[in-house]
Amino acid sequence: MGAFSLSWLFLTLFSTLLLRSLGEHASLPPRGWNSYDSFCWTISEEEFLQNAELVAKHLHAHGYEYVVVDYLWYRRKVDGAYVDSLGFDVIDEWGRMIPDPGRWPSSRGGKGFAEVAEKVHKIGLKFGIHVMRGISTQAYNANTPILDITTGKAYEESGRKWYAKDIGIKERACAWMQHGFMSVNTKLGAGRAFLRSLYQQYANWGVDFVKHDCVFGEDLDIDEISYVSKVLTGLNRPILYSLSPGTSVTPAMARDVSGLVNMYRITGDDWDTWEDVAAHFDISRDFSAANMIGAKGLLGKSWPDLDMLPLGWLTDPGSNEGPHRKCKLSLDEQKAQMTLWAMAKSPLMFGGDMRRLDDSTYSLLTNPTLLEINSFSSNNREFPYISSSQCRRVKDPKGHIISEGLTLGLTSCKDVEARGWSARAISDDLEQVCWKEKSSNRHKEQFCLHKRTPLLSSEEGMTYKGHYDSKVHLLNTKMMEACLGASPNRKLPSREFERGSFSPCRRDANQMWELNHNGTLKNSYSGLCASMMTVKAKSAPNGVRAWIATGRKGEIYVAFFNLDSVKAEI
Ligand SMILES: *[C@@H]1O[C@H](CO)[C@@H](O)[C@H](O)[C@H]1NC(C)=O
Repeated sequence: MGAFSLSWLFLTLFSTLLLRSLGEHASLPPRGWNSYDSFCWTISEEEFLQNAELVAKHLHAHGYEYVVVDYLWYRRKVDGAYVDSLGFDVIDEWGRMIPDPGRWPSSRGGKGFAEVAEKVHKIGLKFGIHVMRGISTQAYNANTPILDITTGKAYEESGRKWYAKDIGIKERACAWMQHGFMSVNTKLGAGRAFLRSLYQQYANWGVDFVKHDCVFGEDLDIDEISYVSKVLTGLNRPILYSLSPGTSVTPAMARDVSGLVNMYRITGDDWDTWEDVAAHFDISRDFSAANMIGAKGLLGKSWPDLDMLPLGWLTDPGSNEGPHRKCKLSLDEQKAQMTLWAMAKSPLMFGGDMRRLDDSTYSLLTNPTLLEINSFSSNNREFPYISSSQCRRVKDPKGHIISEGLTLGLTSCKDVEARGWSARAISDDLEQVCWKEKSSNRHKEQFCLHKRTPLLSSEEGMTYKGHYDSKVHLLNTKMMEACLGASPNRKLPSREFERGSFSPCRRDANQMWELNHNGTLKNSYSGLCASMMTVKAKSAPNGVRAWIATGRKGEIYVAFFNLDSVKAEI
């Protein structure tokens, strides 16, 4: 990708001894290592512990303290198993995920991750795991009973036992892992008991960090986040709470969860392409401007998370293969990434294989100035008042880049920006839902969708009776039979801004919408509202950027970035 130039201005430099205060959750942006970028889901106990030992040896002194096993540690690694396969997971009699004994031999005999956590603690680090939303499809299909952790027996209420099928919400399957997991109904005592049985077990294993996936961004499940947050507060061991991924997250949406968690992703997945890195600049600027960096979080603080650092020795997204290739970013691009992550105070989770950590990656990860900024700076902001010989971007009077157009996005229903939808009749039996026209350009057509009551087969009509009574499908006016859905059926990388994909109409909570009296249009899957948002440059935003921050002794840090593919003088 493009040439990149970075200049630094340090008014003062200070010692980089990292004093991480105890007592408060995530008082500084958390730091560590995560297995996803180098192993996808395939990591074994041996590989994990090798990486953990090297983190302890080389990175711990620089504040990297969490080692996290990413997704599907319960999936047997055999022919036919992949990211969205069904039927390969190891579950216990209560429908809870347990580590695949083939890959995690120390878990045999019901020990779960206890031995791995103990080894991690012995070398001075903290242990994290990735978990998905709700309950697995496999537990649902097996209709396992629910454990009541207060009695150690099956959960009973209203004179009967409760099972997985009572609490799983099938039409709220994780949009990008449809066969894997679904939400649980937290309004039911049994649904809450199931979540308690999971998180109590993680605490018993010695887990210090939970990365909760498919509950945020377009996949928002605020009920589950709220309840898990409450459970974590009541446990006898501190567990840091992290949300992922963050496709389509707005500051308004983040405000609803930031107090419940310690970190939350604000973009789709970040991989080692310049487009992915560049896609983080606008969103970081918006979150810093909204004062979300280091806001009040769960028993401490919370941090907008720009995702792991895919540097060094890696694998590919969704792969069944371990690390086998080098990071594709140039060194300048890697410096730009690390610098933005530092200036925006993002959690720093290294994703490369520690066993092949090269010198240049190591220097970048342990750069004392960047780590000082990442931990201890304040007033971190994008700084718009700069000029450059190559500065081609158009600015409005506030210094913001002028928008290129409107795109459909999702935001919190409390966000005033979400108001603007209204219904209008086209004919006796056809109604449209339209977005208010803001543009003065008369040639532009108003954005409208056809409204239709979801067609259910008679059997489905019985199953979902009452469920979708006030809900409607929204059809593309040019392409009837294609319904608007809120979530894509795969994890989106950060560079993909496209929202509101159309796909064949189904009775899927993703495609169900409700028009409120105040002009908001609410999606049944995520509980978020549709809004027509202005998109900044659609591809990699070009031009020159600067960030500024104040150090802990009052020194000022300034970072200049050139997102263009040609050299620029700033
Ligand atoms: C619009 O109405 C819904 C439903 O009553 C409410 O939850 C939401 O907060 C309201 N939003 C705004 C922006 O007024």
